[in-house]
Amino acid sequence: REQQLKRQFDALEQASTFFRQQLRQSPERQRAVGYLKQRGLSGQIAAAFGIGYAPPGWDNLLQHFGATETATALLEQAGMVIHNEDKQSHYDRFRDRIMFPIRDVRGRVLGFGGRVLGDDKPKYLNSPETPTFHKGRELYGLYEARQHSNHLDRLLIVEGYMDVVSLAQHGIHWSVATLGTATTAQHLERLFKLVPEVIFCFDGDEAGRNAARRAMHTTLPVIKDGQEARFLFLPDGEDPDTLVRHEGESAFTERVTQALPLSEFFFRQLSEDADLSSMDGRARFSNTALPLIQSMQPTLLKQMMLDRICEITGLNLEQLGSVIDLHQATHD
Ligand code: UTP
Ligand code: MN
Ligand code: MN
Ligand code: MN
Ligand code: MN
Repeated sequence: REQQLKRQFDALEQASTFFRQQLRQSPERQRAVGYLKQRGLSGQIAAAFGIGYAPPGWDNLLQHFGATETATALLEQAGMVIHNEDKQSHYDRFRDRIMFPIRDVRGRVLGFGGRVLGDDKPKYLNSPETPTFHKGRELYGLYEARQHSNHLDRLLIVEGYMDVVSLAQHGIHWSVATLGTATTAQHLERLFKLVPEVIFCFDGDEAGRNAARRAMHTTLPVIKDGQEARFLFLPDGEDPDTLVRHEGESAFTERVTQALPLSEFFFRQLSEDADLSSMDGRARFSNTALPLIQSMQPTLLKQMMLDRICEITGLNLEQLGSVIDLHQATHD
């Protein structure tokens, strides 16, 4: 089994090398390189992230590996090749796409994200989950951020591959992206082992704002004293990539310093759904807020958030506690 895993990692590394070569050698390389240039990426940044190109065609990768039975089975297991049951044949998963290798903290390639050059759907294709690749645990760009600096003091969590790469292109080498999934508690626990501060920076659209709300719910039970989570909201229609290209590094980092602390986002968010000028509104507000605050670790922040509820309701902790058990720790 150990042997099996090693073979799978080797195959993914070899695939990554092949995609990088294709960026220089494929007959279609000009389209691929042109695309990267048009997105503002230098060869140096593309190299730092190991960006490559999967050429058009159904079996370039398969053929590169010799298309033997063993190689085919291995590539299928690694998520690089798809088995067509009807035709009893195999074909490359990634075709005519810009390839972003997803590496673990040790630098091993676990899988890929692949972007179309044009407007085809789906825009991004990701490697499937495999025994070695769990999207709820891995973060794109973490390896590269740590390569760039071994003294990270904060990390931005963004939505996409291009956001991470484009930020790095503009000198912001401290961002990571989830892999087309929501931020998980596992992601956060991993990040907080490395840095005391994370800043969520999702797209300035409805999906991004929903993602921020979900991230807040995920962060509350995880965060401990000495750790900080903040939320940076981008102007409508912008994502970190477009914004850093429009505004440049210093304007972007200035925005980061203005990002909303977790507790402020929390109270702002909840008070949007309740009218705090009425008693009924304040009760509704507290009924939503208290279970969420209850889910938190026993931190100073938790205590201060409870105090805030007391201020809002005019009740003391004892009175609140007679309605809701404030000491019961709930974790989801
Ligand atoms: P977005 O939809 O925000 O990407 O998805 P984008 O900013 O428009 O992409 P670009 O800038 O044109 O290249 C953000 C992330 O969501 C996942 C990918 O991880 C992507 O980086 N995603 C998006 C998918 O997995 N599949 C998709 O079809 C789209
Ligand atoms: Mn098969
Ligand atoms: Mn988006
Ligand atoms: Mn984008
Ligand atoms: Mn985006």
